[in-house]
Amino acid sequence: MNLSTNIAVVGSGYVGLVTAACLAELGHSVVCVDVDEEKINALQRGQIPIYEEWLPELLQRHGGRRLCFTTSLDSALRESSVVFIAVGTPSAESGEADLSYVEKVARDLACSAYGYRLIVEKSTVPVYTCEWIRRTMAMSSPEAKFDVVSNPEFLREGTAVLDFLLPDRIVVGADSDRAARVMQDIYKPLTSGAYYQTRDAIVSGAAKGAQLILTSTKSAEIIKHASNAFLATKISFINAVASICEKVGADVTEVAMGMGSDSRIGSRFLMSGIGYGGSCFPKDLKAFRSFAHDLGYEFKLLDEVMKINEDQRQSFLKKIRSAVWNLRGKRLGVLGVTFKGGTDDIRESPAIAIIEALIRERCTLSVYDPGGAERAKEVLPASVTFVDDPYRASSGADALLILTDWAEFCNLDLNRVSEELAQPIVIDGRNLFDPQKMAQAGLLYYSVGRSNPTKLEPSERPGLRSQASVQCDIPEYDATSRKC
Ligand code: UGA
Repeated sequence: MNLSTNIAVVGSGYVGLVTAACLAELGHSVVCVDVDEEKINALQRGQIPIYEEWLPELLQRHGGRRLCFTTSLDSALRESSVVFIAVGTPSAESGEADLSYVEKVARDLACSAYGYRLIVEKSTVPVYTCEWIRRTMAMSSPEAKFDVVSNPEFLREGTAVLDFLLPDRIVVGADSDRAARVMQDIYKPLTSGAYYQTRDAIVSGAAKGAQLILTSTKSAEIIKHASNAFLATKISFINAVASICEKVGADVTEVAMGMGSDSRIGSRFLMSGIGYGGSCFPKDLKAFRSFAHDLGYEFKLLDEVMKINEDQRQSFLKKIRSAVWNLRGKRLGVLGVTFKGGTDDIRESPAIAIIEALIRERCTLSVYDPGGAERAKEVLPASVTFVDDPYRASSGADALLILTDWAEFCNLDLNRVSEELAQPIVIDGRNLFDPQKMAQAGLLYYSVGRSNPTKLEPSERPGLRSQASVQCDIPEYDATSRKC
């Protein structure tokens, strides 16, 4: 299919593992390196530490053949002409990205470089990181021959493999022709479209090849942070609009549809709810903000984006209060703990923050999540009951809260939910359902940025009507058209 390259990927987290597996899928020989011996042993046995669609298939396909795992950076480097750095860049206390892992890898690389190597920075990092890597390597080993490029990732958890194999764009920041050429070769199967024509391709039949954008390293580094900051801004913008919609009785989903149909705006990332979370947006916004500050620019827009995001949680808590009156002692069913559907990740999850606030208010919680329960048990107190289906979460509850947009929540048997609940109240932080149809199903339905019931009068308590076939508004991921 293409000229295969020998590649080392340093770091086996979400980004490293998906990158390694997808590069193997494109025909390259890949060795993935991590200092975590237990993790590497598990990967060698075919066990995957994260929940990511298509990753098991890729490991099955290439593990032990084009895709190997090791703890030895030195042996990986001996074999590889290209090294992707995909180690963590957590938030330091000040909000800036902690780049100490990246620096350590750069030193290790310099000390064990065998001839020319292309170093590819894949971790999310601020501007000048490629420059720092270059300088660190040159100082650690003056005779080392290498180039450093930036190749930011735009992978969403849960759809990371599809995002890699069918990208909107591939960004390569390279300051030398030689480096740019190597990167173009690596991604050739995607840019030429040849990958999509192969027999077992995970994404097949794409009409044309992916676009590769060549920039300077600094521009590529900014593209990554600016993209995440812009997407988060879009979410906070629609959440701010949602607050206005609620006040005047408009429907934010209709407003989003009307706005998003303008091709200059676009319909994606305009779903309002309890705000964004995850390991990327919150961290990257803080890092971008902090980096701008260090440069002497106060990026106040980002302060507001973060504030609106935080406000969404508070206003959701208010909404729960307005639906059930006092929180103290209330029994609440909770659907969802992860920061979004389709992942087991609970990092910076707004759902967890809301659950913690409800625990402080002394609510009794019964929680169901199809993927994140085990991780949530590690951070939530033992007083929270985890159950294995949504109806048990609803059983005897004063209200049911929807905190994560898992697709399976859309298929709830609403008659059953209503029967299980002590009061037929559903408070939806993800706008999964059509309010009219929920009302027809006999449920008092509260959502975000749409008209909400004002109060529950006993005489107004809705009776259950027909078997509810409520249409769910959750978008399906469409791998071919890339539309959500
Ligand atoms: C995000 C970006 O989308 C990726 O492009 C990027 O590569 C990645 O961060 C990263 O920097 O590594 P991810 O964190 O997996 O990906 O999650 P998203 O799908 O972007 O969702 C982030 C949060 O925004 C979630 O909590 C989600 O529920 C929320 N969201 C998303 C909304 O509230 N409304 C929307 O319309 C879309």
